[in-house]
Amino acid sequence: MNVLILHGTETGNAEMLAEEMSGWFDARDGVGHASLADITPSDLDAGTAYLIVCSTYGDGELPGTAKTFHSLLDGSTDLSGVRFAIFGLGDSQYQDTFGLGSKLIEDAMITAGAQALVSRHVHDASGSDLAEDAARIWIETVKDRLHATS
Ligand SMILES: Cc1cc2nc3c(=O)[nH]c(=O)nc-3n(C[C@H](O)[C@H](O)[C@H](O)COP(=O)(O)O)c2cc1C
Repeated sequence: MNVLILHGTETGNAEMLAEEMSGWFDARDGVGHASLADITPSDLDAGTAYLIVCSTYGDGELPGTAKTFHSLLDGSTDLSGVRFAIFGLGDSQYQDTFGLGSKLIEDAMITAGAQALVSRHVHDASGSDLAEDAARIWIETVKDRLHATS
């Protein structure tokens, strides 16, 4: 099993969390992390599970490093066989646009034919838990799913 953790960020939180998440896998899981800015949808392959950590910025928009990746997920992209899971970062103070950045990526991945391993989780910066703690719980559900399907 190969796992690549991708981050889309504006001010660095998603990148820091993605780096931390990569330390929560065993070496045998072949885990790495990279910026969404450094890959394109055509780089994604069926032999790797992609965990995407993505914030929301502006008025429900994608963070800067995720914009090009998302714009390349157009009608011509075929991601059949690609497996992914999304952990969003957001803030419920932005009531109407909470977590929309991660939803934009998820919707485009699914439209392109990729398969979501688990439900998208959005951490709320105004909530009572830390993103790291929520991510630790979420990643266990991802690992269970990966081990059940590989
Ligand atoms: C200017 C600004 C706009 C934001 N807009 C939204 C938003 O529309 N929806 C949301 O859920 N969170 C929003 N957030 C919260 C961020 O998603 C959150 O702070 C996140 O941790 C930032 O992660 P990053 O450093 O990886 O970009 C906004 C934050 C800032 C500073």
